[in-house]
Amino acid sequence: MANVTLPNPSHLHRRGIIFAHRDLDVILDAKNNVKPFGVLTGLMPSGRMHLGHSMVIEQVKWFQEMGGDVTIAVADLESQATRGISLSKGREIALQEYVANYAALGLDPDKTNVYFQSRRSVVQRMGFQLGKRTNLNEFEAIYGFGGETNLAHVQAPLVQVGDILHPQTEEFGGLRPIVVPVGVDQDPHLRLTRGIASKTNWFNVNDYSGPGLLITLSVQDENSVLLGQQPNGRLDKSKVAEVFSGIVRKLSDLGFSDINSNPKQGNVVIPAATKKDKSRIKMKMLEYERELGGMGLLSPSSTYQHFAVGLTGDKMSSSKPKTTIFLSDDIDSITKKIRKAYSGGQSTVEEHRRLGGNPDIDVAYQYMMYFFEKDDSYLAEINSNYRNGKILAGEMKQLCIDKATEWMNGHVERRNQSEHLVTEFLAADSI
Ligand code: TRP
Repeated sequence: MANVTLPNPSHLHRRGIIFAHRDLDVILDAKNNVKPFGVLTGLMPSGRMHLGHSMVIEQVKWFQEMGGDVTIAVADLESQATRGISLSKGREIALQEYVANYAALGLDPDKTNVYFQSRRSVVQRMGFQLGKRTNLNEFEAIYGFGGETNLAHVQAPLVQVGDILHPQTEEFGGLRPIVVPVGVDQDPHLRLTRGIASKTNWFNVNDYSGPGLLITLSVQDENSVLLGQQPNGRLDKSKVAEVFSGIVRKLSDLGFSDINSNPKQGNVVIPAATKKDKSRIKMKMLEYERELGGMGLLSPSSTYQHFAVGLTGDKMSSSKPKTTIFLSDDIDSITKKIRKAYSGGQSTVEEHRRLGGNPDIDVAYQYMMYFFEKDDSYLAEINSNYRNGKILAGEMKQLCIDKATEWMNGHVERRNQSEHLVTEFLAADSI
């Protein structure tokens, strides 16, 4: 991934399956400085859990092992609104199909909080409140919505904004960076959330035309009086002075020797600050905003994974069982599905030996790369042997079946041992 060096990259990172991020450096800095950070993601309880879903949980696990506290949203309001699944059905699916697999996939029940959107009022409240910071034009630009769009599709993203931002509230862990690992299809929601969060900020930290960084105020309905703007349009100079000395006090915690406070111009310049100080300064300003009564929301970080192709060569989908492997499939049906999988081989043995196969589109190979084979050098070996025709398509499928069987047997064993932990994962408001 661009611009970051990962500690202990997982097979998903090493193989470019997790391929992009926003502000991941903020999370890595927190880890390196032994500061707290959180991880939040969400899953819609809309059907059976399959291998595609398990990748998000793998990402979460990776961050958990790095020290992040973990929150997982069961997007039951979203699946009710967009998939017609009742809240009680959604609960049943979430517990039996999803949470029952979490421990087996490596999540630590003591360090993981699973909650239901329908039961966490602060999520709904924030979604509603922050709706003020966007409008239908933005929804049209981000999601392509138009006049005929069902409003459930407007409400669900706002609830998701609440999901993503609420771990920063005092009740749910306080101000700290939050990373959201997701499939790349979720990026629009992150763009929306990041835009909304930064619009609420009272203080902006920007590059300065000279050396250093510049802090400016963002005067809004919520803070205008506090920031010294009187209803008659005049400035309350003593209020302004107080706010600026507060900024200086906050910044001096960071050890800068020179801080130029210019209440008249409405800015503060820190000449010695560089780009890499930006997020520390930002955190200080969010802290200060909170002291003054603002929300103090930091834009979330995020990481994105590619989707694995469906077994048939089409998209993976819970509603099309032939396209994927469910975590509750038995070995027999897994074997059958892989035998029928889309192949990158040639149609005859003679041609295959001569021309070689294409692992890039061969689903059996792809599934080993995404899910079942953790050894990079072995993977590279079968990749080249497939390309040069030494491994036949049927043989590649058999290799995949063997690995899948091993993986699934291990998973089932771990799940049987840990299934009783389901309630341990649930947050107090969602038991
Ligand atoms: N919208 C997501 C999906 O379609 C689910 C979701 C809800 C989510 N809230 C979230 C994902 C918060 C990440 C973060 O699967």
